[in-house]
Amino acid sequence: MTEYRPLRIALLGAGSVGAQVARLLTENKSELAARVGAELDLVGIAVRDLNSKRAEGVPAELLTTDAETLILGADIVIEVMGGIEPARTYILQALNSGSDVITANKALLATHGTELFDTAEQVGAQLYFEAAVAGAIPIIRPLRESLAGDKVNRIMGIVNGTTNFILDRMDTTGATFADALAEATELGYAEADPTADIEAFDAAQKAAILANLAFHTEVPLDQVYREGITKVSAEQMAAAKRDGYVIKLLAIAERVDADENGEAGVSVRVHPALIERDHPLGAVHGAFNAVFVEAEAAGSLMFYGAGAGGVQTASAVLGDLVSAAKRHVAGGPGLADSVHANLAILPIDRAYTRYQITLEVTDQPGILAKIANVFADHGVSIETVEQSVRQNGGKRRSTATLEVGTHVATDASLSSVVKALAANAAVESITSVIRVEGI
Ligand code: HSE
Repeated sequence: MTEYRPLRIALLGAGSVGAQVARLLTENKSELAARVGAELDLVGIAVRDLNSKRAEGVPAELLTTDAETLILGADIVIEVMGGIEPARTYILQALNSGSDVITANKALLATHGTELFDTAEQVGAQLYFEAAVAGAIPIIRPLRESLAGDKVNRIMGIVNGTTNFILDRMDTTGATFADALAEATELGYAEADPTADIEAFDAAQKAAILANLAFHTEVPLDQVYREGITKVSAEQMAAAKRDGYVIKLLAIAERVDADENGEAGVSVRVHPALIERDHPLGAVHGAFNAVFVEAEAAGSLMFYGAGAGGVQTASAVLGDLVSAAKRHVAGGPGLADSVHANLAILPIDRAYTRYQITLEVTDQPGILAKIANVFADHGVSIETVEQSVRQNGGKRRSTATLEVGTHVATDASLSSVVKALAANAAVESITSVIRVEGI
């Protein structure tokens, strides 16, 4: 038997996640009450339009367009409506009225997180957001709690399912980007306007949130380096496969030591990269997500699962709800993140990475040495060179394709190499430049 008074739960949004939250709250009511020690009463669902078509399981009698009244009468508010406004205003209202808030809104956290967390701290309320990054995968709580006593050095993740689906189809079927995107759209993975996914805005928001937690440092979204996947070609995919790599859209946040280039700090970047096929992230297929965390004491940890989907994301929301509700019942300080470390966010130039550069050169004596000198001139060490020669019809001159893999260097040095190669008379064309990660 539960003794605590029923807790009043307000739900903002009845889309694919909201509908599943409502269904699970209703279907699992007695089990959740037993876990929490109090009934969880869904008292209302705020929507923009009462007449929109709803998924089954959304109780029509709970729908309201009066979000403010609903929020003011709630103990815990769940925001799954998405977008910046009115979600931001509603969350601030909820926090200011003393409610704990659960949100799945990564765009809002990545752009207005400081305001929301400061407000929560000032009023002693809690803001939970497990569902904001990588759907069902528990990654926020491990960073906020389980690893709170460790030192995270690096996070490398596949945090966008749509782009992973597209790249995986390109890898497994040889499809072009355009064909794989069309398939993702047809299957419902990609939205009608796929920009947020394919240009990596979505992944950059998630990277900012993860980096903030991992490094106890505020990470403004505009300081996350971002490159999408639209330029990944079928030829690059095929070459990667031949070499034992796969191309993934990686979100990387890592500590960078002080060196002759400047102070220590954190580099946060999202871009396509080659990763060895037998790296744990190389085995993440379809629309799945995974986050690989390297911590000083814990070593390497891998979190894997469904990164999106209504019911999967609802699982993360309900986990937060149980935590929030238990805090109501039993009290306690809750979670408090801190940005005390205040590390510098470094530009992409300061990131350490490797490049694989594919170029066409005239096959003549001394050309290889000239190319090698370009790398040496910029302090970049070559790790591998593969050459294949193609005869140009009946002409005497033939063309060589060089695939050059570098050792680790700063992105600034590596991109200077690419610029210098482009300007070098020995180089006919540069056909591919891609970073290599995972070591
Ligand atoms: N559009 C995202 C993805 C899911 O494809 O992973 C929501 O963040």
